[in-house]
Amino acid sequence: MEQASEKGLLAVRLMVNGASREARIRPGETLLEMLRNRLGLKGTKCGCEIGECGACTVVMDGVAVNSCMVLAAQAEGARVTTVEGLARDGRLHPLQEAFLELGAVQCGFCTPGMLMSALALLEIRPRPTRDEVARAIAGNLCRCTGYQMVVDSIMKAAEVMNA
Ligand code: FES
Ligand code: FES
Repeated sequence: MEQASEKGLLAVRLMVNGASREARIRPGETLLEMLRNRLGLKGTKCGCEIGECGACTVVMDGVAVNSCMVLAAQAEGARVTTVEGLARDGRLHPLQEAFLELGAVQCGFCTPGMLMSALALLEIRPRPTRDEVARAIAGNLCRCTGYQMVVDSIMKAAEVMNA
């Protein structure tokens, strides 16, 4: 980025998917915009941008948040995990495996947000009930799956992770 175009930009430093990152942002820019446009992490989806659909969900300091409703500046010093941070050493996360195996992915637009809501839940509730899973993804709208397979997949992933 050229010096002139950096006028008025703020530097934000944070951990993203375990790596230290820095981005220069406009005041008022959202975490969603920073992740996608400054850090190139396009896995986090942009849906409604008003906190209604959950497509933009990421995990910030252990909590699932709608990144369209968080200012990028608020992420200074935070630990953020996006869908790109799920797979390790070329292996999909058990949540991703279960979503694929049980057919919880159709168009896939809601999937990154669903995965991140599920991840935040399993971190605090490794053995959730179906009701707890349903509550955890209540803010993630899906137009394709009817949620049944999504809940099944999260339950299956929890089982695998506890084995
Ligand atoms: S894009 Fe953030 S909740 Fe819809
Ligand atoms: S799989 Fe299409 S919106 Fe959920």
